Amino acid sequence: MITSRFSKLGFILAAVGSAVGLGNIWKFPYVTGEYGGGAFVLVYLITALFIGVFVLISELVIGKLGRSDAVTMFETLATKHKKLWKYAGFIIIVPLIILAYYSVVIGWIFHYIAISIQGLPQTVEQSKDIFIGLLTTDIQTQLLYHTVVFVLVTAIILQGIKDGIEKINKILMPLLGIILAILLVYSINVDSFSKAFQFMFNPDFTKLSSEAVVVAIGQAFYTLSLGMGIIITYAASLPKDSNVVKSSILISIIDTMVAIVAGLIIFTLLFDKGAESTKGAGLVFISLPSVFYEFGSIGSFLALLFFIAIAFAGITSAISMLEPTVEYFENRFNFSRIKAAMICSIFFYVLGIAALLSNIESYSSVLMIGEKGLFDWLDFVCSTILVPIGGILVVVFIGHYMDKEAVENELIPLMGTALTKFWFFMVRFVIPFALIIVILNETGIFKF
Ligand code: PFF
Ligand code: NA
Repeated sequence: MITSRFSKLGFILAAVGSAVGLGNIWKFPYVTGEYGGGAFVLVYLITALFIGVFVLISELVIGKLGRSDAVTMFETLATKHKKLWKYAGFIIIVPLIILAYYSVVIGWIFHYIAISIQGLPQTVEQSKDIFIGLLTTDIQTQLLYHTVVFVLVTAIILQGIKDGIEKINKILMPLLGIILAILLVYSINVDSFSKAFQFMFNPDFTKLSSEAVVVAIGQAFYTLSLGMGIIITYAASLPKDSNVVKSSILISIIDTMVAIVAGLIIFTLLFDKGAESTKGAGLVFISLPSVFYEFGSIGSFLALLFFIAIAFAGITSAISMLEPTVEYFENRFNFSRIKAAMICSIFFYVLGIAALLSNIESYSSVLMIGEKGLFDWLDFVCSTILVPIGGILVVVFIGHYMDKEAVENELIPLMGTALTKFWFFMVRFVIPFALIIVILNETGIFKF
């Protein structure tokens, strides 16, 4: 049973804290760059609305009706095959695995906060050397910051829902908003802002590929923390009279706004200095630092704000990745919170060390599986295969295996009969199908 509950605002902020993360500030801008700018943004907005909001509603309803840890909720809410559905709850292992390398990346961000203070790289080449050097040779620094993240996240989780998760989000989320607002205002006053705006909002449909649609769906799940039992777990501590539809819409809107604002800021700065947007991790960790340098003395300040913002976003997401498994151990095994937290934290900590070592030149041969190192494998398996599978389980569960009347009683008063019917149609048939296509496409089994 869940005893402590979020306040209404606390829940929204915690869910936003989970959703807003590296996925918004780092991944969204670079996939936008890779998949054609405005056209991709448009497709993303549509998927965020129809798939993102609809699945978010599903997860909130499951949590609100289930009121327990994810595994128990799948078991108790299933109208048939309870013993089998219980296993769907084990999707909560996915965020714990993601946390292993996510924590390492937050560690890099801490290192870049230090770099913003000590002095930014002056050229892209220098910037690249610093980043590649950190990744492939510098065990000490990465281990140090990974440990800092481990301690921080564990300490917050130990304080529980209200005094830990709610409190930290109530502090960090408003600060994140303020920092992004400052950076946005600065960017708006830079000439290339209009170019960045054009790039993001003027769709050129000739650039749109079916691949982009698939990527947009995947991004919608990852960015809203869906398909991992996270929102389900948070929602188990929803205040009784929460409106799950309004909350879902609000959470998606804020998450989307953060992604778009981050994109506008990043592209404005890049375009102003005529910089190329390097692919993947390079965008934030290689291109941007040297671009910030070119802005002169204000540049280091902007860089500092920028990396602090990502750190806040990352920490609040990291906490949400840990909570579902901690609650599982507390609930099902009657472990004390501290014991449950230590088991889960040590798991991600150790796996994270293996992941970071897999990027180190001299170790990589041991930790390579095929062409990828462990670090890349964890990311690939989790975000492209397991998260969509988790998403399928969630929508199939609520669409076909939960008490239809109970779900309707929750939704019809909030959005009417017609919309509730449409929502059922989407979660029963459309979204599972879309997710199967995502998995087939991303694993290369069937390319579109
Ligand atoms: N939604 C987060 C982001 O966009 O960065 C990522 C995330 C959060 C992934 C929580 C996994 C997770 F369990
Ligand atoms: Na996000």
